[in-house]
Amino acid sequence: MAHRPLACVILAAGKGTRMKSDMPKVLHRVAGRPMVGHVLAAVKALDPDHVVVVVGPGMDSVAAAVAPYPTAVQQEQRGTADAVRAAFGLLEGFTGDVVVLYGDTPLVTPDTLRAMVTARRQASDPAVVVLGMRPEDPGAYGRLILNARGGLEKIVEYLDASADERAVTLCNAGLMAFDGARMFDLIGRVGNQNAKSEFYLTDVVQIARVSGMACAVVEAAPAEVVGVNSRAELAEVERLMQRRLRKAAMDNGATLCDPDSTLFSHDTRLGRDVIVGAHVVFAPGVTVADGVEIKPFCHLEQTRIDSGAVIGPYARLRPGADIGPDAHIGNFVEIKNAVVESGAKVNHLTYIGDARIGAKANIGAGTITCNYDGFSKSHTDIGAGAFIGSNSSLVAPVSIGDGAIVGAGSVVTSAVEADALVVSRAQQKAYVGWAKRFRERKQAEKANKA
Ligand code: UD1
Ligand code: MG
Repeated sequence: MAHRPLACVILAAGKGTRMKSDMPKVLHRVAGRPMVGHVLAAVKALDPDHVVVVVGPGMDSVAAAVAPYPTAVQQEQRGTADAVRAAFGLLEGFTGDVVVLYGDTPLVTPDTLRAMVTARRQASDPAVVVLGMRPEDPGAYGRLILNARGGLEKIVEYLDASADERAVTLCNAGLMAFDGARMFDLIGRVGNQNAKSEFYLTDVVQIARVSGMACAVVEAAPAEVVGVNSRAELAEVERLMQRRLRKAAMDNGATLCDPDSTLFSHDTRLGRDVIVGAHVVFAPGVTVADGVEIKPFCHLEQTRIDSGAVIGPYARLRPGADIGPDAHIGNFVEIKNAVVESGAKVNHLTYIGDARIGAKANIGAGTITCNYDGFSKSHTDIGAGAFIGSNSSLVAPVSIGDGAIVGAGSVVTSAVEADALVVSRAQQKAYVGWAKRFRERKQAEKANKA
């Protein structure tokens, strides 16, 4: 079959007044990614020939977030049909299929978009395919009005609907697929004689029907088309997205000990037989190999963990943490921009930043890499099999050779040779009987006062 071109138009010009935010609505994040990024990801899965994002004036931050996809500016918000018109310039002469999506509906899946395109290409050749849904509470959604044969006749906006029409439970989810050859003319004919004096995209259905063209409906699960207009709806969409990500992680063979308290990012990747304890947060950019255990209360971001490693409880892995196979990272340990090689152990109360820790090295409790002098960051290199005694400060730049031992409490400021022992702390002095004499003197003073 010949390739039929596909274009996608994402409407994102809305100000999002009800978000009460200085940031454009579609940049608010769900699972660590701006909402419009989720919509783009779903669109990308269809491998479209064109994508246009419609933004409002001055929304450069949205344009930057969606780059390299082009944006078209809708100068004034005069309704959803007017918003699609703003994209016409970039789609001139296009005669394939056009899917119109909303930037604030981030849960939509590629399968649903594919179903819309397939319906658009069915034998009856509908001019418009509308995505419908039956939400528990139809509220103020537009209603889909069917004819006696079950075909789509028109969409009425809630404000313009009669009591009978408001009783209809099949609602407009907002997404539509058009035959590009007919779309420009149909949308061009939309007027603004309605309750809001806006150019409603939804009017195209009636315009198409009056001209004898077929229109069709594809139904989606309401949970997939929840739109975000307020912070409460943002939280609801986050909840639904987390539910989806948790299920995917478990379907792929990870154990979530308490799924409801595990927070994922859109791009979290977990291998097989990964065990995740309660209250673990995966910020963006985390990849975990097979057989890793992450104990409760860990926060991970831009981190790679190799197979068999054990993390936490209460570990913080920051950007650039690269944890090797079978390494152990324990409680109250913070690791940033550091490679921890195979089998190394960093088990208690430690900060490792800008460092390499060689294979099987052991980092004692309270070890700190002093990587920052207030101006720049410096590197600490710890060799394979080295042993760093508790409460040591490693003042970077500094290197500790393979197999070296650093005595507890040392402040290390220059390179330590392989297999050396370094101890840099004051000599221990003992004053025999001093403590006893001290106590006796203090007790005598107290008795004299009384
Ligand atoms: C729209 C539908 C309604 C449907 C509902 C589903 C219309 C007329 N109504 O109503 O039938 O049930 O979505 O959520 O389409 N936008 C622009 N420029 C504009 C106006 C809107 O870019 O001038 C964008 C918004 O940023 C948003 C989307 O279009 O992403 C939808 O606009 P919104 O005002 O939320 O439409 P609803 O009233 O929710
Ligand atoms: Mg809306």
